[in-house]
Formats: sequence, structure tokens, C-alpha cells
Amino acid sequence: MYTLGIETSCDETSAAVVLDGKKLLSNEVASSLAAHQKFGGIVPEIAFRRQLETISEVSCSALSRARVSLRRIGLISVTSGPGLLGSLCVGVSFAKSLSLALGCPLIGVNHIHSHIYAAVLSNKDIRLPFVSLVVSGGHTSLFYVRDFDRIELLGHTQDDACGESFDKVAKILGLGYPGGPAIEKVALRGDGKRYRFRCSGTKSPLNFSFSGIKTAVLYKVAGRRLKPLEKYDIAASFQRSVIDALIEKSLTACRMKKASSLVIGGGVVANMELRRSFSRVFARQGLSCYFPRKDLSTDNAAMVAGLGSVLYKKGHVSGLDLVPTTA
Ligand code: KG4
Ligand code: ZN
Repeated sequence: MYTLGIETSCDETSAAVVLDGKKLLSNEVASSLAAHQKFGGIVPEIAFRRQLETISEVSCSALSRARVSLRRIGLISVTSGPGLLGSLCVGVSFAKSLSLALGCPLIGVNHIHSHIYAAVLSNKDIRLPFVSLVVSGGHTSLFYVRDFDRIELLGHTQDDACGESFDKVAKILGLGYPGGPAIEKVALRGDGKRYRFRCSGTKSPLNFSFSGIKTAVLYKVAGRRLKPLEKYDIAASFQRSVIDALIEKSLTACRMKKASSLVIGGGVVANMELRRSFSRVFARQGLSCYFPRKDLSTDNAAMVAGLGSVLYKKGHVSGLDLVPTTA
């Protein structure tokens, strides 16, 4: 069965075609990022206006790239939350109209859960159950995935999300938006051992806290004009500490659940230093660690089509009363 996926939870407008939940035939992503950059973050009003303008075109190009006509689509899968309300409304309304016009079923999927599925599309050998870490701009969570409709939340961030902390630290260092790729780039030239930043402790060992480390960087900079090397060292030291905290919590979760593999998803997993570090530590512990293809790390509709297809096969379906949820 061909599934058309639609993703509009933040600034991207994406459409994808996936066959039988596994074979990715197309994945088109249009971003309005350039329009937000001068504001230093996403402006919801700009995002959803752009999504309204582009969603039809993006969907048509996903279908033509996949060489699948609209009539052959058997399921419409759409991100129904969490995300920005206006943006979600564009995707959900578009998906409902298509479902009604084509007479084919509709399924709304959870955006955070779909990030887990991105790695499944990229690795044939992932086996259930597993522990999953999702590190995105809006969420940081650990899950125990028994099946794709039996996902247990193990821990979450108590304050900032991981990607959000990259964005805020990049802003403090004057590196622009989005902060993750900017920090990764300059960190390559820095010494990650020069400064000792640490992520704050949490009561629950599986929760996260990133606002303290952001404040520590802010105090270190404290309005000074940094020399380039100093800036690179701060970026590298911040990135090192965040990765170390993510590894420590993920290992604890795997031990607690006696899981032998970890599946990572979300925009921050585009970070190559994070991938190298997780692979090294997990291999040493005899555990498997899976990542999505780099282009499926950030928001995309392929993961939405894939997850929707698996859930539909298990008997889940949404009605035309599907309502977006922001949290
Ligand atoms: O998953 P995503 O595309 O959107 C949300 O669902 O939030 O994640 C976006 C986040 C942003 O905070 C961005 O700075 C971060 O992912 N990010 C990165 C990298 N690329 C994107 N963080 C660290 N290193 C990267 N290379
Ligand atoms: Zn996301």
C-alpha cells in the first residue's frame, strides 16, 4: 500500500510517499527557514502562511518523484501534534480534504513518535523492543518502545529541549539560527576539554535539564568580545557536555529496561560528533545504536508516512474530526 505522508509541525512543509511502511519512494521538504533567520527563531505566522502557499506543490512533487498517481494512494498520514497550532492546522486540513476527496483512510500521528520511525526507515535490522532517545528543537525524551502503538515515556526534559539549548547558546555566541549546525561547525575547530560545563542534575535519572548549562555559557561570555578561538572552545565544550549527558541517560535507560539497542531521532541527531560518540560508547558496552539517515534527522514527511502505515496496519485510524494538538 502506498502512503502519502504530510508534515507541517514547525517551519517545514514536507510530503512523502512510502510503500508498505518501509520503502521510501520520495520525500520533499520545503523550508521557510530563511524568512525566520532575521528574527533569530521561528515566527509561527510566517511559517503557516508559507505552508498554506506551498503544501499543494510540495505534495504534487512528492507524488511525481515517486511516480505514483494520487488515485493509487491507500492512506493519508499526517502529523497531528505536537507542534505550532497554525502550522498543524494547514497539514491536518489538507490531509482531511485529500482523504475525503479520494475516499481513502486518514491517520494522525504523533510528531515525536515519528522521529523514532525515521531510524527504522534507514536501518533494516532494528528489532523491537528498544529504548529510544528523541532530541529535537522542541522535545527531549527517552522512550521504551515495545511496539509503535505501545510507546512508554521514560523521561523528558524539565526545562529547555536539547536543540533549543543549541539554538540559545549559538545566539549567545553570535552564531545565528538554527544554532545546532552552527555550533557543530565551529566546534570542529575548538577544544571540547577547555571549559567544564555540565548539564544540571535531575531528580529522576532519566529526566534532562539544559537551561543551567545555557546559563553557564551566558556567564562565561558575560558581554565580553570573545576571540574566535575562545568562541570555538566554548562551543566545543558545550557540545561535549550535552553529548555526554545524553549518552549517560540513554545508557541508564537501556540498563533499566534491559534493552540491547537504542534508536535515536530528532534534529540534533544530525550532529556527527553526537553520532560518533554514541557509536563508540555503545559499541564498547556491547549495545547497538541506530540513527536515521542524516536527511531524515530533521523534520520530514517520510517518517510520518512510515509510522502512519504501521499504525494503520495495526488497526488505528482517524476520522474527519481529527484535531491538532499543540503539546
Ligand atoms: O526535529 P527538528 O527538525 O524539529 C523539531 O521537531 O523541533 O529539530 C530541530 C532542532 C533545532 O533546534 C536545531 O538547532 C537542531 O535540531 N539541530 C542540530 C543540528 N541540526 C539541527 N543540533 C545539533 N547539531 C546539528 N547538526
Ligand atoms: Zn521534529
